[in-house]
Amino acid sequence: MKDIINILDMTTAEIDALIDMAEDIRAYPERYSETCRGKTLATLFFEPSTRTRLSFEAAMYGLGGNCLGFSQENTSSIAKGESIADTARIVSIYSDIIVMRHYAEGAPYAAGLYSTVPVINAGDGGHNHPTQTLTDLCTIKREFGRLSGLTIGICGDLKYGRTTHSLITAMTRYDSVRLVLISPPSLSLPSYIKCTPPAGKNVTFIETDSLDEYMGELDILYMTRIQKERFDESERQNSPENYILTPEKLKRAKKGMCILHPLPRVDEISVDVDADPRAKYFEQAEHGKFIRMALILTLLSDTKPKTPPACESPGDKRCRNKKCISSIECRIPQRLYRTTDNILRCCYCDTEIV
Ligand code: CP
Repeated sequence: MKDIINILDMTTAEIDALIDMAEDIRAYPERYSETCRGKTLATLFFEPSTRTRLSFEAAMYGLGGNCLGFSQENTSSIAKGESIADTARIVSIYSDIIVMRHYAEGAPYAAGLYSTVPVINAGDGGHNHPTQTLTDLCTIKREFGRLSGLTIGICGDLKYGRTTHSLITAMTRYDSVRLVLISPPSLSLPSYIKCTPPAGKNVTFIETDSLDEYMGELDILYMTRIQKERFDESERQNSPENYILTPEKLKRAKKGMCILHPLPRVDEISVDVDADPRAKYFEQAEHGKFIRMALILTLLSDTKPKTPPACESPGDKRCRNKKCISSIECRIPQRLYRTTDNILRCCYCDTEIV
């Protein structure tokens, strides 16, 4: 039994097995319709959501289980000052698995330290969104039959776009992947995501601020919205223009290119693109339900006891990231880890500790 906080909490073999199971559930839903009878999924959403919360709930009902939870912070006792730690302890008494979305980076990791049941990160601030990535990988595998040997353009807000962070982290584990990172310099990818790809994987990063420059080379174009709600005051004053995908821009793209978007869309994909056969973002949202069914079933079938994640003694070192749950909730213990290139980072938000 384990928490899913980061996409790296699953091996590539485990992800392959989830994708296979998702396809089997899609083909034979009746075989799975009683597999979670008597089990309860709790959805703790401290930020708005349409796809993630509802697809998790639809997934659990499709497996014969039940759901409870809240979709706004102000309807839980957090509004009265209850901590994430106590909330996680209590909700794990009432449920068998917890799905948490929170505005603070690392909040689901913190919940996982106190919950006795598995915790799934459904998006933590501008940090990670691993189950969106499972949805993306499932879609890519359906479209191309493989996850390796692809050129993927990832466009928009790479600084705060949590879906892009998890997707890029995931793709660095597959062979011969080219990642074309398309953003204004002010919204470029944080250094902790652009980690060294595993040796021998031949993964390359290309950075550009032009949506057009590599259009003709892309197998996949992954569009994202600008995450204005995460901007600080100075960023709000100098808000960058969206990159907008139009039928005109797509004239230079491959006939077999696949356009993805985690959604919600604001205006970065023109609605005129929706009728283009390369637009796969609505199918992508549908795949999210099946991969989440596979994830719930897999986590609930695991009988191994939950073990707390390892960390390095923090001494007097503290995470200085104001958006980290360890800065927001002072009772949460500092937890640090050391990377293979000897950088000390916060376990909750991955910020470098100096
Ligand atoms: N992709 C995604 O996370 O959508 P929601 O915010 O609607 O859950």
